[in-house]
Amino acid sequence: MNMDKSARTNQVLHPVLHHRWSPRAFDSRAIPTDILERMFEAARWSPSSSNEQPWRFIVGFNGDETHARIFDHLTEANRLWASSAPVLIAAVTKLNRTKYPERENTAALYDLGQSLAHLTFQAAADGLFIHQMSGFNTYELEKALGVPDGYKLFTVSAVGYKGKPEQLPPKLLIRELSERVRQPLENMVFTGMFGQAAAFLQEAKAK
Ligand SMILES: Cc1cc2nc3c(=O)[nH]c(=O)nc-3n(C[C@H](O)[C@H](O)[C@H](O)COP(=O)(O)O)c2cc1C
Repeated sequence: MNMDKSARTNQVLHPVLHHRWSPRAFDSRAIPTDILERMFEAARWSPSSSNEQPWRFIVGFNGDETHARIFDHLTEANRLWASSAPVLIAAVTKLNRTKYPERENTAALYDLGQSLAHLTFQAAADGLFIHQMSGFNTYELEKALGVPDGYKLFTVSAVGYKGKPEQLPPKLLIRELSERVRQPLENMVFTGMFGQAAAFLQEAKAK
């Protein structure tokens, strides 16, 4: 089954950005450990507020105990497709500052997301795909993984090589083949005041 889920854009984006998307059909092929390590190395070099580096990752390989712990706490809707991914990553962030433990790190979630973005793009450069999820029982999964107080589990990511859409049940197959949609830039890039579309967008269009 042929499909192109790359970003539909006239702009020439970097290939890892252009071709990234979140598949549901994964190939069960294992991810070589050097590629896996490189993904986390990319996350490690992500920027963070005060260089706090609040991100922590718990990695499960399909068939091992960690994977089962993570998988068992996903919502049913996510279990339907995430079972084929060879790796699941639980992403956790540290909520308070290391130097001033009584102070909340208000950038903790932001920094976790940014580290995941770095990980995702490095994965894409190595031919892998990532599908992030927030559909799981946070409280139970934090308990199952022994996430300590002061840390928060925020997403689970399925990682692997792309599989065949036809391996999915019919309902998910339709979603897998459907077009990716985005709001126009005018809705999100402003100048002057919030809500005023940036003039350079019009100028660029007119060219
Ligand atoms: C924080 C976060 C939580 C998400 N949770 C889920 C989820 O529980 N289940 C799911 O199928 N997709 C989930 N997604 C994937 C988004 O639906 C997907 O990224 C979005 O529709 C855009 O599609 P694209 O990544 O293919 O461009 C999540 C993505 C993010 C960033």
